[in-house]
Amino acid sequence: MELRLLYSRGRRLLVRLLLLACAGIAPASAAGGRWELLHRSIGVSAMHMQLLHNDRVIIFDRTDFGRSNLSLPGGRCRVNPRDKVLPGGDCTAHSVEYHVASNSFRPLFLFTDTWCSSGTVAPDGTLVQTGGWLDGYNNTRTMPACAGDKSSATGPRSRTPSPPAGDGSLFIFASNRAILLDYKSNKVVRTYPVLAGGDPRNYPSTGSSVLLPLKPNPTEAEVLVCGGAPKGSYPSSRHRHVTRTFVPAGDVRADQDHRRLAGVGHRDNAVAAGDGRHDPAPERRAATGVPRLYHSSVVLLRDGRLLVGGSNPHIYYNFSDARFPTELSLEAFSPEYLDPSNDMLRPRILNPSPTGAAASVTYGAKLALKFSVPASARRRRRGGAGGGGSLGVVSVTMVAPSFTTHSFAMNQRLLVLEVAKTAVVRGLAGTYYVSATMPATAVLAPPGYYMVFVVNGHVPSEGIWVHVQ
Ligand SMILES: *[C@@H]1O[C@H](CO)[C@@H](O)[C@H](O)[C@H]1NC(C)=O
Ligand SMILES: *[C@@H]1O[C@H](CO)[C@@H](O)[C@H](O)[C@H]1NC(C)=O
Ligand SMILES: *[C@@H]1O[C@H](CO)[C@@H](O)[C@H](O)[C@H]1NC(C)=O
Repeated sequence: MELRLLYSRGRRLLVRLLLLACAGIAPASAAGGRWELLHRSIGVSAMHMQLLHNDRVIIFDRTDFGRSNLSLPGGRCRVNPRDKVLPGGDCTAHSVEYHVASNSFRPLFLFTDTWCSSGTVAPDGTLVQTGGWLDGYNNTRTMPACAGDKSSATGPRSRTPSPPAGDGSLFIFASNRAILLDYKSNKVVRTYPVLAGGDPRNYPSTGSSVLLPLKPNPTEAEVLVCGGAPKGSYPSSRHRHVTRTFVPAGDVRADQDHRRLAGVGHRDNAVAAGDGRHDPAPERRAATGVPRLYHSSVVLLRDGRLLVGGSNPHIYYNFSDARFPTELSLEAFSPEYLDPSNDMLRPRILNPSPTGAAASVTYGAKLALKFSVPASARRRRRGGAGGGGSLGVVSVTMVAPSFTTHSFAMNQRLLVLEVAKTAVVRGLAGTYYVSATMPATAVLAPPGYYMVFVVNGHVPSEGIWVHVQ
């Protein structure tokens, strides 16, 4: 079932809402892609994750479940009288910084509870992480993207976030309906009809949503909402003295790309937060066999892999007494596009350098990218016609690094940039130049750091960081 809602006022984007009850949609093929266990234990449970432009992922657990499996360095302890379990002191970490290139991590000091919190990256690349539970409820924490030497392990500090830039409307979805809010005048500019069926699609019914890729100079935006459960599922799963009934979840199977963006966690219709008793659908288990429930998270890395961690944690980091124990492992999923069979077609961005500083670009500016494709270089060397057939349709995409938690990727946004037909020019020895036009306004892409990929057919390059201002 598909419900499309169009709206236009002046130069506002049309918002189109795509509801997939998904009954008629084929499940994603199990073939393709590869799982890899990166760490059996990073010491904390990855409930929230944020990739920063230094290719480090800041990972948060909750603080109020007792000692984690990772000590703070230098005998440091956290003494927070408002901590539920260890008010007298806790010498373990509840946050880590994961370094992608070296597959290593280090503990970070976190003072207040970040359970059920949110976050975003400010235009200058600083992680702004807000809210939490009890002592963490009223807090804002910030974490700059530091160079990463061990001496700078200061951990999150408090600071006021920059206000969001841009001039668009806010699409808000709750339960089974949506509005468009002009947040500057605080006026509702559009009320969308209640979704067919009327069943709730967010907490505690745990649906998810994703803003689908924005085309160049878009005149509409499309939001996919899926998951959820029939009304009453939550209470029926919580009865203590009568038979507990688990109503089947709304089907969350959209196509594989949507699932990737939306997360790879739970099937549970009603969330019994933290008890970890629910059974994830078999296909939701990673091939490594690790169940990833409601409190798991996943982020896209610059190399195209997805970093996956967390699950429902247990008080006292109880590892043995539960059907789905506290999960400290960290995995990576390499989608089919990273398969070695695609290596000859994989573009490699040569300039700007993928490992250098972020390229600074302004709105509407042209970004020139030099890249190579191995298959083209090989044909050239053989004196062939020069790479014919090895270069498919070249596109350039731009992806915001999102703050992910609870099957949501906050701030997630994928833009397909404008590339003129004549903009792909062949250089020497299998190299090419492509010129992509940056989004025109901050409505399309708020200022900040993005990953930019050159995509040959469906095979993406490793990304580069760009800083849009
Ligand atoms: C806790 O960490 C140690 C290494 O410090 C590791 O051997 C152990 O498996 C971890 N425990 C769990 C439950 O992950
Ligand atoms: C958060 O701050 C408000 C306003 O000061 C206060 O009323 C509320 O109790 C605080 N909440 C928590 C959980 O500390
Ligand atoms: C797990 O939880 C139970 C019940 O709360 C407790 O008795 C037990 O000691 C815990 N085990 C660990 C290893 O903390």
